[in-house]
Amino acid sequence: MSIQQSKPIVMIIFGAGGDLTWRKLIPALYNLFIDHHLPHQFAVIGIDQKDTAEEKFRQHLREGVDEFSRRGKSEEQAWQQFASCISLICGDLIGQETGAELKRRLDDLDRGWQAGSDHIFYFAIPPTMVGAVASQLKQLELCKDCQRDRLVVEKPFGRDLQSARELNQLLTGKFDESQIYRIDHYLGKETVQNILAFRFANALFEPLWNRRYIDYVQITVAETVGVGHRGGYYDHAGALRDMVQNHLLQILCLIAMEPPVSFDANEVRNKKVDVLRAIRPILPENVHHVAVRGQYGSGLVGGKEISAYRDEPDVAVDSPIETFAALKLVIDNWRWEGVPFYLRTGKCLQHKVSEVAIIFRPAPHHPFPSSAVENWQPNRLVIRIQPEEGIVSRIQAKQPGTQMLLGPVDMQFLYREAFKASTPEAYETLLLDIMRGDATLFMRADQVESAWSIVTPIIEAWDAVPTADFPNYQPGSWGPEAADVLIARDGHSWLQPTIKRDELVVEVP
Ligand code: BG6
Repeated sequence: MSIQQSKPIVMIIFGAGGDLTWRKLIPALYNLFIDHHLPHQFAVIGIDQKDTAEEKFRQHLREGVDEFSRRGKSEEQAWQQFASCISLICGDLIGQETGAELKRRLDDLDRGWQAGSDHIFYFAIPPTMVGAVASQLKQLELCKDCQRDRLVVEKPFGRDLQSARELNQLLTGKFDESQIYRIDHYLGKETVQNILAFRFANALFEPLWNRRYIDYVQITVAETVGVGHRGGYYDHAGALRDMVQNHLLQILCLIAMEPPVSFDANEVRNKKVDVLRAIRPILPENVHHVAVRGQYGSGLVGGKEISAYRDEPDVAVDSPIETFAALKLVIDNWRWEGVPFYLRTGKCLQHKVSEVAIIFRPAPHHPFPSSAVENWQPNRLVIRIQPEEGIVSRIQAKQPGTQMLLGPVDMQFLYREAFKASTPEAYETLLLDIMRGDATLFMRADQVESAWSIVTPIIEAWDAVPTADFPNYQPGSWGPEAADVLIARDGHSWLQPTIKRDELVVEVP
């Protein structure tokens, strides 16, 4: 659905010279433009402290589009048309002059369009600057219309429960909660959204979706890359803050939430918050039982030398920061009592893969001879978020032959095969939702705080006692051995996802 053609929109990006604008925001806006999703009266005003000529800035953005857009290289005419709506203000983000210039440009645009525009203030800036920029916006009275002015805050939203609370108080003290869009790009991913469709648009699964039939759940978000040039940020964050507090817990919410009554933003978010609140708090003395941290060392992967995390640029040589985290969580409610949720995420792992595996309880009775069920495996459903989006359900079938021998087979649904249309990037979906004023896929203040309250005890325990065994996993592996021990204590093991010959195959280790 396109934005109303008559509704002018200006997106103001604070920190426009940064990576996020270059890799994600502008490529997403360009694709929305190509797909005719942007209104005719649309402008981007970038604000950045670096002094850059406007033309050079646009050229830099084009290079980002050429490199990161799902469509590949930009086309000359389309780019020129799109780029004509981009301008840049160079100056102190919270300086008076910058503010006055921004005000002037917004007024000019409205005068030219002969209409009042909606404003989206995008904070593509480090978290430490959010408060100051928000205060400046308030002072300038540029974000005061609850219906038309919105602000977008990137993760990490705070560093722990206390700082997230303070940031929420600061923002909600100046703006209405309905104006604040806390972005988690995982929620814009097609397959993450499909979890809702899959669960609540099909009568088949919901009756099985509970402790009676489900044995345990695994959520894996694995990356092959290290921290690269993001050491400066990452070495103050780590995997818990960077991935678990947001992306993994949001996925867990979608898997575990109760059916919403409607697709209304608050209704969906209420149901998610219920899940977070039902997660059993982790006591400091239990952290070592339910949480494992890891940090990659150096090694050879595919013949290529990979540097240890501690040797990455802007990382402390004795850094205690985790690049891998695995957790076991339990949800204390009627649906999930007794069903462990295992989460793991890490950098420099064997594959880039994000998926959820739901492992069902064994069939209550086998009428088959024991020789028939030697290869028997419990049913499982794997929701693959990336890279090969799809769903695989593993069932038992009779193997061809004269004997009754059972073996597992996979039924697959692959997005790529079922739908020919190319999938929008998460940021396209999310930016469009912000323009429409639909907050369903964004985190509310209470969601963010509930998520922090789950991970904060672990952060505190890890901060208090730095581990002596870092680095403790090889790049190209599946993380530290302690993660295997964590899950093995319950008699389970991590599923090792692999992609073979362009097919989705899930292997048991
Ligand atoms: C970001 C994290 O939120 O998500 C990064 O800050 C991580 O560290 C990235 O690499 C992963 O996102 P995706 O979409 O590539 O899975």
